[in-house]
Amino acid sequence: MLLRDDNLSEETKKLISSLPTDKDAQGKLCKYQGCWYYYNTLQAVINFQENFQPQDTDIILASFPKAGTTWLKALSVALLERSKHDHDDPLNHPLLSDNPHGIVPFLEFDMYLKGSTPDQTKFPLSSPRLFSTHMPLHTIKENLKDSPCKIVYLCRNAKDALISRWFYRCKYQNKDAARSILESMFESFCSGVGFYGPIWDHALSYWKGSLENPKNVLFMRYEELKTEPSAQLKRLAEFLGCPFTEEEEENGLVEKILELCSLDNLSGLEVNKTGKTWTNVDYKSYFRKGEVGDWKNYLTPEMETKIDMIIDEKLKGSGLTF
Ligand code: A3P
Repeated sequence: MLLRDDNLSEETKKLISSLPTDKDAQGKLCKYQGCWYYYNTLQAVINFQENFQPQDTDIILASFPKAGTTWLKALSVALLERSKHDHDDPLNHPLLSDNPHGIVPFLEFDMYLKGSTPDQTKFPLSSPRLFSTHMPLHTIKENLKDSPCKIVYLCRNAKDALISRWFYRCKYQNKDAARSILESMFESFCSGVGFYGPIWDHALSYWKGSLENPKNVLFMRYEELKTEPSAQLKRLAEFLGCPFTEEEEENGLVEKILELCSLDNLSGLEVNKTGKTWTNVDYKSYFRKGEVGDWKNYLTPEMETKIDMIIDEKLKGSGLTF
């Protein structure tokens, strides 16, 4: 999905020729508005920027790749769908028959990859429309200006996101998770050149957005979702305008949603064991360990020091740490 450049318009080809370019094992990259994209993803970003019209009730779930997007999608779907579904009737819930990525489309990969008009048949959207994106906030902001729509950003420790991406990429390419691949990804990651990188600018765009506009941008962390899931789920529900009622809390709905959306539960469902996205990615590749600090098993102390120093330097003075 990421490799073909055959959907590039003449304007985009011209634009690319004026941008910084680079390449990695998956293809050619260019830096547009401070963020690195494969060429065909850039085309989708441009298609989005030229065509997307927000609705007031839209919700956009944003993240850096491998930050827990699948989990955030599942939790948001479960929160918004809860009035329609009986959690004691497990057969009656969209998350049980589809993967979160089949329910919540990516703006760039699902809606605008192929052209200016989204194909509504794959993702029939009802209000409130739920979308996701890996684009940084400054790239989607212009389309959303004056719109009261809500944006949730899920931030994850950079080292865990890198390790998660290493495993995902190797699985996607049917390769063993070799150290040589990790080492080359590590170097690109530290230089900021890589799909949607640099991670620090990505997180900073939403961090600043959440400080400037807390009513419309919520900054969440994967690690906090792991350590205090109930509190974070309630925070998300409040932000999305569907807080839990006392009765729902007494009936254990918070815990039921967390259980429904847990990695163990979702990864064990038939659809997630055997299904694929419409672009042919196995749903099971979105689930692995789901642990905080798994990077300790793979990065050397030298790698840890290097990444920490770069991130500390890049985030200095912003109030953001990760
Ligand atoms: P690991 O590779 O560290 O296990 P994304 O959804 O953005 O692609 O991120 C994938 C990461 O989120 C993977 O991390 C995956 O295991 C984890 N993940 C997926 N579903 C999850 C869930 N329901 N709960 C917690 N973590 C989940």
